[in-house]
Amino acid sequence: MLGRDFTSILDLSPERLSGLLELSLGMKRDGVGPVLTGQTLAMLFEKPSLRTRVSFEMAMRRLGGQALYLSAHEVRMGDREPVKDVARVLSRMVQAIAARTYAHATIVDLASYATVPVVNALTDEEHPCQALADLLTLRERFGSLRGVRLVYLGEGNNVARSLAYASVMAGVDFVCASPDGFRLPPQTLERARGLAGGGTVTQLSDARDAVRNAAVIYTDVWASMGFEHELESRKEIFRPYQLNAELLAAAPRDALVMHDLPAHRGEEITDEVIESERSVVFDQAENRMHAQQAVLAVLLGGSPA
Ligand code: CP
Ligand code: NVA
Repeated sequence: MLGRDFTSILDLSPERLSGLLELSLGMKRDGVGPVLTGQTLAMLFEKPSLRTRVSFEMAMRRLGGQALYLSAHEVRMGDREPVKDVARVLSRMVQAIAARTYAHATIVDLASYATVPVVNALTDEEHPCQALADLLTLRERFGSLRGVRLVYLGEGNNVARSLAYASVMAGVDFVCASPDGFRLPPQTLERARGLAGGGTVTQLSDARDAVRNAAVIYTDVWASMGFEHELESRKEIFRPYQLNAELLAAAPRDALVMHDLPAHRGEEITDEVIESERSVVFDQAENRMHAQQAVLAVLLGGSPA
């Protein structure tokens, strides 16, 4: 019930998103059968990874299939050979491709030339598998997602964009608090607000205002992969958005703390907060595997979602 590819969270409708979350929950609770026996997922990574690589690899193994890791150094997509050739060669030998790329256009290109499903494992614009795992984590904690106030602190980046779209589709009230120059782009806000599902998206500037009624506070690195050279100049700008004990004290006492990881302790989040009982960061990490099992089972195995 997904299309052929999962290159953006926008490939889902609210119903399909909800179906995937229910399938993930069921697979986590009951385990999975070998529905992908004999199938191989090729994983192309232009950037480093721990969670995404391991969760895709373990998801394939648990479903009876296998995964093949291909590094940027090895494939040199767009340099050693064009993206469209990589897509067509892999399509002759494997049953699906997961790709982590810099440019979002690269994964769009891959998907348009591949004849097998292509899954976004993070691009500069989106991280849809992360958003699925995050909503799964919220679904487990809150039962219903409707009206949950999810406050995201920091750059309106790939993680924020996918979460904003997913939130609206799931009925979550998403609030993004960012410094000037790092807000979600107006076209992203407009697109999110045009989605069905009943959730809302609000862009604020002040972190303290944003967390006041939060059910969940989420943050991500101040400089994403590929932008590390900007970290030093960003530190002063992002300091007021650090998720620390003082900011957490301005939030409701039961507000949860989320982070997609890897975290830079002492930058966007303090060690004290990420290690606190409020933090669900390792549930999020584990849920990457459960959510991707559902995605792979639907794309490759024909499981209904
Ligand atoms: N959250 C996430 O995608 O982690 P990795 O970069 O380690 O895959
Ligand atoms: N925004 C971060 C997410 C890492 C999982 C990045 O793109 O580096």
